[in-house]
Amino acid sequence: MNDYLVAFTKYLKHVGLPLAVGIVVWKLSSCLSRRKRRVALQGKVVVITGASSGIGEALAHAFYEQGSKVVLASRRISELERVKQELVAKTIIEPTLEPVVLPLDLADFDQIEPFVQKVYELCGDIHILINNGGVSHRGSILHTKTEVHKQIMSINYFGAVALTSAVLPKMVKNKSGHIAFISSVQGLIAIPDRSAYAASKHAMQAFGDCLRAEMHQHNINVTMISPGYVRTAVSLNAFTGSGEAHGVMDPSTDAGFTPEYTASRILDSIVSKQNELIVSQFMSRFAIFLRHTMPAIYFRIMAKRANRT
Ligand SMILES: NC(=O)c1ccc[n+]([C@@H]2O[C@H](COP(=O)([O-])OP(=O)(O)OC[C@H]3O[C@@H](n4cnc5c(N)ncnc54)[C@H](OP(=O)(O)O)[C@@H]3O)[C@@H](O)[C@H]2O)c1
Ligand SMILES: *[C@@H]1O[C@H](CO)[C@@H](O)[C@H](O)[C@H]1NC(C)=O
Ligand SMILES: *[C@@H]1O[C@H](CO)[C@@H](O)[C@H](O)[C@H]1NC(C)=O
Repeated sequence: MNDYLVAFTKYLKHVGLPLAVGIVVWKLSSCLSRRKRRVALQGKVVVITGASSGIGEALAHAFYEQGSKVVLASRRISELERVKQELVAKTIIEPTLEPVVLPLDLADFDQIEPFVQKVYELCGDIHILINNGGVSHRGSILHTKTEVHKQIMSINYFGAVALTSAVLPKMVKNKSGHIAFISSVQGLIAIPDRSAYAASKHAMQAFGDCLRAEMHQHNINVTMISPGYVRTAVSLNAFTGSGEAHGVMDPSTDAGFTPEYTASRILDSIVSKQNELIVSQFMSRFAIFLRHTMPAIYFRIMAKRANRT
């Protein structure tokens, strides 16, 4: 028994010190990054579109917890009020700011300018805009009405463009601000039966790259986020070719990352002013790699996939 004890203390001498130092460094760095989040976001006005569900709702929690003034925007006011109630009911030791709920239909461009003016009226400023609200697509090109393509482009792309354009003048004048886009890995590759969605997110990526270049001189940061599968209502709410709700929970979506994990990664990418973030499963990353390095193989796999459905 004693021999064991001696051996164990000897072992501890070798391993214990590096281990202790490791733990201290780890604790310190996680404490510092927590502090960095707080300093960057406390008191900041953060506008989140599509805050009534899924990733947007999780982002509302993440930013609210850091003391940001979150503006929750989407069409369903009752759902936004629910999110707001859940936020204010949280126990958070550090000071928080009351969330603001505002209606917004991204497809109705006439609402955009008055919406932004209302935010200025209520909150004074906009420091961070997160273009998150969006809708997906399930249907082959053969069976999708042109009207549905237009609708999805309006919500996902033109809505984000209009909102971004409306908040830029004040940011440019102040020489500070941050625009984030929730794109998708489907902004980088295209998968059959989601043509309108993939097209809208590819458009968003291109717009974001131009915006980043043009805003450099104005000290405004642009973060393009491309999530893979995230467990939300996205496939339930997707438009079919005739414009109805798909109404099916896709197994891949159901098996995806949690909205909370995704939101935490997104928040960190915004705090560190990253240009882009891909937050996805390995297969999505591999597909992006294939599309760019071995396109013929990628096309063959996608044709097989389209054949299956
Ligand atoms: N879940 C995923 O696997 C995944 C992966 C990559 C990217 N994304 C992207 O993440 C974003 C959020 O989607 P989610 O997964 O959280 O899906 P979700 O649960 O269906 O949430 C979509 C949000 O968008 C809002 N929205 C839809 N149409 C709108 C409109 N016309 N005007 C204003 N807001 C509208 C909805 O609010 P109202 O109904 O109240 O208007 C809702 O809050 C989307 O841009 C989506 O493309 C999702
Ligand atoms: C304007 O710039 C100042 C200084 O950089 C900053 O403190 C303030 O939050 C900015 N306001 C907006 C709306 O960006
Ligand atoms: C944020 O944007 C400014 C202006 O374009 C740029 O100088 C800075 O490098 C960006 N920050 C990061 C971390 O890329």
